[in-house]
Amino acid sequence: MRNTLLAIFCLISATSIAQNKLVLNTDLGETTISKDIYGHFSEHLGRCIYGGLYVGEENKLVPHINGMRTDVVNALKNLNIPNLRWPGGCFADTYHWKDGIGPKAERPTIVNSWWGNVTEDNSFGSHEFMELCRQLGTEPYISGNVGSGTVQELSDWVQYMNFQGTSPMSDLRAQNGHPEPFKVKYWGIGNEAWGCGGNMTAEHYADVYRQYATYVNTSWEKDSRIFKIASGASDDDYHWTEVLMKEVPHSMLDGIGVHHYSVIDWSKKGSATDFDEELYFTTMSRAYDMERIVRGHATIMDKYDPDKKVAMMVDEWGGWYDVEPGTNGGFLYQQNTMRDAMIAGMTLNIFNNHADRVKMANLAQVVNVLQAVILTDEERIILTPTYHVMEMYKVHQNATLIPMHLKTENYSYKGKSLPAISSSASKDASGKVHVTLTNIDMNKSHDILVDLRGEDFKTVTGRILASAKIQDHNTFEMPDKVKPKTYSGAKLQSNKLTATLPAGSVVVLELSK
Ligand code: AHR
Repeated sequence: MRNTLLAIFCLISATSIAQNKLVLNTDLGETTISKDIYGHFSEHLGRCIYGGLYVGEENKLVPHINGMRTDVVNALKNLNIPNLRWPGGCFADTYHWKDGIGPKAERPTIVNSWWGNVTEDNSFGSHEFMELCRQLGTEPYISGNVGSGTVQELSDWVQYMNFQGTSPMSDLRAQNGHPEPFKVKYWGIGNEAWGCGGNMTAEHYADVYRQYATYVNTSWEKDSRIFKIASGASDDDYHWTEVLMKEVPHSMLDGIGVHHYSVIDWSKKGSATDFDEELYFTTMSRAYDMERIVRGHATIMDKYDPDKKVAMMVDEWGGWYDVEPGTNGGFLYQQNTMRDAMIAGMTLNIFNNHADRVKMANLAQVVNVLQAVILTDEERIILTPTYHVMEMYKVHQNATLIPMHLKTENYSYKGKSLPAISSSASKDASGKVHVTLTNIDMNKSHDILVDLRGEDFKTVTGRILASAKIQDHNTFEMPDKVKPKTYSGAKLQSNKLTATLPAGSVVVLELSK
């Protein structure tokens, strides 16, 4: 009795003093969080493909199946990787797909002019990409070459990958060992057409898109349909989205991209591991810009597409810093710290909460480039803090978004403020509710009261990703310095939950009835 009274007293005090409060209407969810929000991106850039994903069929050092490294494939399968974008990025608009098919010895080499001017031997091409996707059990997303390609070339590629019957391209595919169509659903019509994809104006690209989309139409069955994605805006270039939404008939536009990187300053990005609070706060501000950017583009899309038929695809996002000292400047290889875990936790919460419009997102990039989930060094790999966030958040994939209201204290630095806590919540097919909470305040833990409404919950369990310092990261020598642990900081009573979120932490809670 005494204990019960004490618990009730504690709960009442927690309720009345709570500065951070999350109200969840667990019975009112309607929107599905597309699993594709948890997508990845693989470009012919640095050691992403070569060395990172693919080590070649003859490799004797690194265990592989058909050239795809087994350790990386298994780690990505553990994320339930829903889709993989390829071959770029900027590389996509220089890529001529016919260079990457047929006997490897006969494939021509090219110069990868965007990324370090290295020689690309085309040993990883369409068939290898599809083999990787098969092993991963993931949906391929191909970005076509618009910047330096032709309509015919892209139309042929789609026919090569998808056509079921007899045709010049499907016959060629069969000749190369794959009679069955690959059934590629997602096709990007160029990449960053405003920049490396051709330096076009929005108005010009809208016309180019219409032309390409007319001929990118080979499905694998009569009633199947490919999903066409327009190269989208950079950051808050709302004019770009406005023009595309207005000028392109929606019957030929399934998705429109958006790219946003959390960069401190394009001319001075700073070290991935050696940063002070000033730089940390700036990175967090850039990451938090995603909320404004998604809202801004969504508002324009709502104007032209109130039924939300056209998907927003944030097909490049993540933190971008200086390359690791001593590595090739064109390879974009960077370490990944708890700061990146904060970017990931906050950004994924933003995407989840905009699941009515954001249907796909692709972290840049999957291995060894920018905010990678995996880093490799010959036969060794490490899972980064970002990997662990993706793994903790995978419970949201295809779950129902729970409507919520969050009141949070600020994380302030030199007179500037950001919301300290971000959150999202979902209910899975079995009725379990998952709540993800990220506290970006690197100096202070925050208590939060979660008010569960609509259903009764009996138990709570959780996991946490936290580390002593925000600069902490995994290395090949200490691969498990940062990894999720069991979380015991949450107490549940009478549908009121209290939790303490340590400074710079990501928490996932599971609530059962
Ligand atoms: O992810 C690196 C590059 O960033 C991509 O190739 C390009 O699309 C973007 O500018």
